[in-house]
Amino acid sequence: MQGRITLTQYLIEQQRQHNSLPADLRLLIEVVARACKMISHNVGKGALGNFLGSAGSENVQGEVQKKLDVVSNDILLEANEWGGNLAAMASEELEQIHLIPHRYPKGEYLLLFDPLDGSSNIDVNVSIGTIFSVLRHTDKTRTPDEQSFLQAGTQQVAAGYAVYGPQTVFVLTTGHGVHCFTLDRELGSWVLTQSNMRIPHATHEYAINASNARHWHPPVQRYINELLMGKDGERKQDFNMRWVASMVADVHRILNRGGIFMYPADQRDPTKPGRLRLMYEANPIAFIVEQAHGAATNGQQRILELMPTQLHERVAVFLGSKDEVDRVTRYHHEMG
Ligand code: F6P
Repeated sequence: MQGRITLTQYLIEQQRQHNSLPADLRLLIEVVARACKMISHNVGKGALGNFLGSAGSENVQGEVQKKLDVVSNDILLEANEWGGNLAAMASEELEQIHLIPHRYPKGEYLLLFDPLDGSSNIDVNVSIGTIFSVLRHTDKTRTPDEQSFLQAGTQQVAAGYAVYGPQTVFVLTTGHGVHCFTLDRELGSWVLTQSNMRIPHATHEYAINASNARHWHPPVQRYINELLMGKDGERKQDFNMRWVASMVADVHRILNRGGIFMYPADQRDPTKPGRLRLMYEANPIAFIVEQAHGAATNGQQRILELMPTQLHERVAVFLGSKDEVDRVTRYHHEMG
């Protein structure tokens, strides 16, 4: 096929055009993308590779780890250790940060990832994915520690996700729009298939786990009730609902045709502000969504401006089509 642009070519052209993509960041993104290829391969093997089922352990969140969670985490750690572009890594699957071993050179970036998002879908052949975020290690004289990672999402220099679905895609932003690459499985290369993805401001589609409805706070109850009333209510139009239970898959749909994704905090446990993790789930996705002209808040504030206090902290999430995110955020402000 003529005129195919690979991820490598795209990144080199970015480097030339914007002069804002340093060579080591480019290499780092390529290594992450290569690791995603390997994860995709293992996900595709499933039972044939003995990859399904529980690993018999729990992660820092107290969630049972699946074999593929562990395998994907190991792939990302191993792929990114030796390249010389990183100062340290952090993962959903690791309680502590992961320093680059002494035998390898160190770089100036910090990589955070959720190796396999959508855990409940791993064993049932529904789309799952990898999410990553890149920050700078600002104080190079200091060995990175957890504190070094606690930067607002606005400081991200790159973010992306892969979806392992009917096609494997890699969606990336370095702050110059959002671009989607599809894995050519025969050639093993990422091919640019969508440039400058845009989320329409208006939408008729929403995503929320409605089984939690009775626990929601009043602004979320009000917003969802209005959507459910459809044409017969305040909104005077019908809305459709979709919930994959893999954030990456729901977000990928929203990037393609609009929608709002919500995982609110609820009244069950005040110490748990939502389910999703700020640093390696909400922040990278919020960066991508904003770059695609959407919006992302925790109901009160822009997610990217939140100052993290812990590596694994959780956050409420409302993201996607701007008109809807603005509306549900306004309800939070109006109703306290
Ligand atoms: O832990 C993250 C996650 O798996 C997301 O990918 C997904 O959107 C959500 O949790 C699913 O939550 P629930 O199990 O409540 O449907």
